[in-house]
Amino acid sequence: MALLKIGVIPGDGVGPEVTEVGLKVLEKVAAGAGIKYETTPFDLGGERFLKTGEVLPAADQDRLRGCDVILLGAVGHPGVPPGVLEKGILLKLRFDFHQYVNLRPIRLFPGAPCPVAGKGPDQIDMVVVRENNEDLYVGAGGFTYKGTPEEVAIQTSMNTRAGVERCIRYAFESARKRGGGGAFAGLSQADRAKGFARQVTLVAKTNVLTFAHDLWRRAFDEVAAEYPDVKPSYMHVDACCMRMVTNPEWFDVIVTTNMFGDIITDLGAVLQGGMGLAASGNLNPDKTAPSMFEPVHGSAPDIAGKGIANPLAAVLSVAMMLDHIGAQAAGDRVRNAVARILAAGAPRTPDLGGEAGTGEVGRAVLEAL
Ligand code: NAD
Ligand code: IPM
Ligand code: MN
Repeated sequence: MALLKIGVIPGDGVGPEVTEVGLKVLEKVAAGAGIKYETTPFDLGGERFLKTGEVLPAADQDRLRGCDVILLGAVGHPGVPPGVLEKGILLKLRFDFHQYVNLRPIRLFPGAPCPVAGKGPDQIDMVVVRENNEDLYVGAGGFTYKGTPEEVAIQTSMNTRAGVERCIRYAFESARKRGGGGAFAGLSQADRAKGFARQVTLVAKTNVLTFAHDLWRRAFDEVAAEYPDVKPSYMHVDACCMRMVTNPEWFDVIVTTNMFGDIITDLGAVLQGGMGLAASGNLNPDKTAPSMFEPVHGSAPDIAGKGIANPLAAVLSVAMMLDHIGAQAAGDRVRNAVARILAAGAPRTPDLGGEAGTGEVGRAVLEAL
């Protein structure tokens, strides 16, 4: 295997704390799998911005573009106005590198705490394909009469047929690969008969967003017709929030817009045990630029610097990176190591009800490996 170039953006708050653990896990698993790699650290985030005024200098972005993949901790700093770092670093990289799929698995590992009574690993195993380059996130809009009583603010959701279709297609391909949905075992006979497994659910709001989501619905129906072996279904986003809690086993693959995908995956994180366990990949499926892997959570300023952040979301994001580079067996080894720790019940960081620190959980992952 050629030398893999990994750009690392530890970022802000707990970002560096959890990234450090992710890199140690990578080091261990790569050695066993014969994966040769080099890492290039990038000093991007709130501290640099406050010192130099720089957010994402072109030279840094060029060097990131030269990497095969990127690992990111989190960005967002209490001393920096909201949006400067989030839009200037995270969204800019997602957009400029055409990472048009944000893949967010929602899988409850045995032993991980799930707050929904009566639901367990057999019921919670889905994946969200979040559109990652369009919608309200494009920054189209502006103010008129800013700061006056007549002020108007407009922020437009952009949805292109091509951008929507490629995500929907990715979702159907994913459903085919998953081959029936991990939660199939947890379905009742009645639900199986309804065909809930091996399906793609479009989550949108066609009853209100009658332009944007009409486009989504038409694209969805047309792509669905090409996949007769996958059941297409539709749910409004509000009902989806309810069903993710009451009937998570109904979901296999969800495809949705950027904004809705952001919101429902924090709900999904809780289903799988909390923000400390939710991993994601910002994928450029065409491989024309690097894909980027990161926990779903942010910089968690409320616990930053205390050494108690749960590193497992970052570790599971490393596993997704390994899948992406074609090293699924190595990715599985990492997931199995995480599964063993969760099944054992300890060590756990406080978010999972334990008293362990970030480093202790990290060491346990290395031992389990
Ligand atoms: P957050 O995800 O940082 O935190 C939400 C809650 O979850 C907090 O109580 C936090 O302590 C907890 N939490 C998060 N990660 C955890 C972990 N690894 N272990 C244990 N507990 C964890 O969301 P927020 O508070 O809304 O945002 C904080 C900052 O992060 C903001 O500046 C926001 O813009 C930014 N943010 C960045 C990203 C990213 O870089 N991908 C994602 C979300 C938010
Ligand atoms: C996420 C985050 C980002 C998003 C923010 C920080 C821009 O919440 O990755 O889920 O909204 O996509
Ligand atoms: Mn989010």
